[in-house]
Amino acid sequence: MTRTPRRPFRSREWFDAPGRSDMTALYLERFMNYGLTAQELRSGKPIIGIAQSGSDLTPCNRIHLELSQRIREGIRDAGGIPMEFPTHPIFENCRRPTAALDRNLAYLGLVEILNGYPIDAVVVTTGCDKTTPAGIMAASTVDVPAITLSGGPMLDGWHEGELVGSGTVIWRSRRLLGAGEIDEEEFLRRATDSAPSAGHCNTMGTASTMNAVAEALGMCLPGNAAIPAPYRERAQMAYETGRRIVDMAYEDLRPSQILTRDAFLNAIRTVSAIGGSTNAQPHIVAMARHAGVELTPSDWTEYGYEIPLLANVQPAGKFLSERFHRAGGVPSVMWELLQAGKLSGGALTCTGRSQADNLAGRESSDREVVRPYGEPLMTHGGFLVLSGNLFDFAIMKTSVISDDFRARYLSTRGSEGVFDVRAIVFDGSDDYHHRINDPALQIDEHCILVIRSSGPIGWPGSAEVVNMQPPDALLKRGITSLPTLGDGRQSGTSDSPSILNASPESAAGGGLAWLRTGDIIRIDLNKGRCDALVDEQEIERRRGEGLPEIPQSNTPWEELYRQMTGQLADGAVLDFTVKYRGTSRKVPRH
Ligand code: FES
Ligand code: MG
Repeated sequence: MTRTPRRPFRSREWFDAPGRSDMTALYLERFMNYGLTAQELRSGKPIIGIAQSGSDLTPCNRIHLELSQRIREGIRDAGGIPMEFPTHPIFENCRRPTAALDRNLAYLGLVEILNGYPIDAVVVTTGCDKTTPAGIMAASTVDVPAITLSGGPMLDGWHEGELVGSGTVIWRSRRLLGAGEIDEEEFLRRATDSAPSAGHCNTMGTASTMNAVAEALGMCLPGNAAIPAPYRERAQMAYETGRRIVDMAYEDLRPSQILTRDAFLNAIRTVSAIGGSTNAQPHIVAMARHAGVELTPSDWTEYGYEIPLLANVQPAGKFLSERFHRAGGVPSVMWELLQAGKLSGGALTCTGRSQADNLAGRESSDREVVRPYGEPLMTHGGFLVLSGNLFDFAIMKTSVISDDFRARYLSTRGSEGVFDVRAIVFDGSDDYHHRINDPALQIDEHCILVIRSSGPIGWPGSAEVVNMQPPDALLKRGITSLPTLGDGRQSGTSDSPSILNASPESAAGGGLAWLRTGDIIRIDLNKGRCDALVDEQEIERRRGEGLPEIPQSNTPWEELYRQMTGQLADGAVLDFTVKYRGTSRKVPRH
């Protein structure tokens, strides 16, 4: 039975162009040199790209090197021809000066591949933090049928009978080390125990969050995000994803039909309910901008903040990915939102059906892990959006604010949610590490630790450094967190109550540039304000002193990135790129 695609496959222009045998011969012969036949390439079947994000340099996604076999089998069984190619590696933990530089670079690379080669549809393999948004951003620009497949999280980590989650254990152990409660060897043991298998972070860090976002957007098969990498279901998901993308190619079901404003609002709500990473903010905004969907800062407050925390997963909760997956994973959380009327059930997904259809029967079987909407872990799980004289936009993740922190800052001092703190200002993380234990700074519990020069231009790339821990002397007194503020980001695995992603950053002339150690900052969480109590005249005088110094660019890409990047509030995309949409509709010339 021959199927007719809804729209002629673009690969025909390469392999079957009428009257251009000179050209098609050139294209055909080299694909044949590894065994494809001219007949199959000219059979009219769709060519399905597999964007391979796994490599030795991206261990979080390395499982995809194996999974791609099952993706290929799914593609073949459904009548497509797979063609696998590598994407630019993005490894969150290891890439210096920060993996954030790579999201836009991988995006650019993938756009050129999808646009310039005979690809009719693509499986975007995802996992580690930025691999997911980079892939969806590119799929959106090119607008070929696309589906994401996560490699899945690692198995749960255990250390001496206790669950230890990747990333989160680092921040917690770092505090114990500072307080003198563990030594360096014990630190390393805890860290390695948190990473027991192939896969990405097993906490609700940025990787799990962004794959949950892909589900909420409708860009992957339901249940894809949380299946641990080594589980048999992961390879089965790879096979089903391979099958599905072939149908999507025939249906011409493209990102532009799936990535609507409703889909993005579903993603914002889902991030709140899972206690997701603060990195979801720039990544969701970036994907929306590439999809041509307008999101405003108030969308985070209006649609996200009010959503309760339902998933009991670290760092906001207790468990890790295996238990979360067995409890029903992301679909079971979205099922709760749907029942509560907090999800647009009509949003179209890659299955060709609506979210509501996909979620039928997905109620959780484990209420300790996925709470009913009416009995949440916390009533508001979303991000607070703040502004003031130091920045126009910043967010704070409220689901990780500890009881201890709440008691110290949010209820006992002054009126609820309003507090004044003394600023200790650091220029980048080296400065922080050099000076944090300097007694001359007289850091106490009335201080806020501020880090600047850590945004997209300043770092460059924007670094995960805002979750600064208090000086050792305070840790020894049992004060495990101080308020922090910065124009960088923080790891999604962090449990720090930081005000971060402050935009514009100091290097772009934002207010943090004129802030000085000793200034008093008033934070009003009820009004979403954060202001330094410094008068206008003094601010003007300090502005005249210029911006803090930042390191020089060390590579050509760093320089180009700095020239072209926007701020975190706007997704830190390369601003000129968002005007390109649907490039695949015009096949490049021979
Ligand atoms: Fe790659 Fe966490 S470091 S997923
Ligand atoms: Mg991270």
